[in-house]
Amino acid sequence: MIVKSLEFTSFRNLQDNKIYPVEGVNVIYGDNAQGKTNLLEAVWMFSGGHSFRGAKESELINFESKNSEIKMEFFSQEREQTASIKFTGNKKEVRINDVVKPSSAYLSQCFSAVVFSPEHLSLVKNGPSLRRKFIDGAICQQDVKFAVLLSKYNRTVFQRNALLKEIYKHPELEETICIWDDSLIMLGAKIISKRLCYLRKLQESAQEFHKGISNGKEELLIEYVSSAGIEISDNEAEIAEKLRVGFEKCKREDIKLSCTNCGAHRDDLDFLINGIKAKTFASQGQQRSIILSLKLAEAQMLWKYFDEPPVVLLDDVLSEIDRSRQEFLLSNTKGCQTFITGCEVPVENKENTKIFTIRMGEVI
Ligand SMILES: Nc1ncnc2c1ncn2[C@@H]1O[C@H](COP(=O)(O)OP(=O)(O)OP(=O)(O)O)[C@@H](O)[C@H]1O
Ligand SMILES: [Mg+2]
Repeated sequence: MIVKSLEFTSFRNLQDNKIYPVEGVNVIYGDNAQGKTNLLEAVWMFSGGHSFRGAKESELINFESKNSEIKMEFFSQEREQTASIKFTGNKKEVRINDVVKPSSAYLSQCFSAVVFSPEHLSLVKNGPSLRRKFIDGAICQQDVKFAVLLSKYNRTVFQRNALLKEIYKHPELEETICIWDDSLIMLGAKIISKRLCYLRKLQESAQEFHKGISNGKEELLIEYVSSAGIEISDNEAEIAEKLRVGFEKCKREDIKLSCTNCGAHRDDLDFLINGIKAKTFASQGQQRSIILSLKLAEAQMLWKYFDEPPVVLLDDVLSEIDRSRQEFLLSNTKGCQTFITGCEVPVENKENTKIFTIRMGEVI
């Protein structure tokens, strides 16, 4: 994937412009709060239509405007393609090669990117939602239907929780809970099965990268921590069976607390270094190595899936990692078009590198 041009109109604080990145390394350089991350966010939007900062569509539109548009010309699947996203209020219209698409998820079928931002640095230690977001987001990039599955699942959890609140007041409603359980078991088994399948491959690749970063001293293991005792080798039918047992076990607690305590939305990932839990024991450096390995593995999986390298977006992370990790990261993303933001120019090798300076939203 190569971004040939990127045009933005009323997007965040960026002044309307069209830029032409190079195939190698694009450095976006400027002081704090000038619009560096906004520019990266604009590129990322084309990988699936969502902000990596979790922003709503309306937040992407310049404060002074009613709508916004970003356009991209890119090379992918051995041809020149175009895509555009128009934002109006909280709605967006996505066009790929001038054809309006029913959902922004279609973007991920023709453009792929990996983003690495400071938020990811807390992936190991923070709460489980960030780790679920990581794995679910990575799967969405390869599987358009996964996003639909997730949104159906989350809606069903919301509906079941609403019913649980009602049961507290009207106990006779308890017998209707099984309708939601059946849906959650069916959808949850599909989600977990896809997660496990992705994880098996991610682990293989991340393990290799981690070995490289740690000079062969550390072995990285990723475990799926399930609220229903599901194991990484389980198939969809086995997962469904375990979910049913889990739902039954948690039923009284669910009614008491008015929330669903078992299922895909409660699961987590555990990272182990040489068999020791990283969440509790890993040093800052070890945590960064894990995240670097995961991100590089994510990129490698996308590369294999699309049979071409994804675009790599590095938001302010080079300043967060030491020299040897910087070199490891840059040498392992060499075949990818890369966008790097920072307050200083981090790349010494100027070959195939373009520097964009950004000042108060103006890209120079
Ligand atoms: N919808 C919007 N309209 C106008 N300005 C916005 C909008 N959204 C964000 N901004 C502003 O854009 C500015 C630049 O944000 P951005 O996150 O890109 O900064 P940055 O250059 O990455 O800075 P840092 O180095 O601190 O990460 C911020 O001051 C922010 O308030
Ligand atoms: Mg920033």
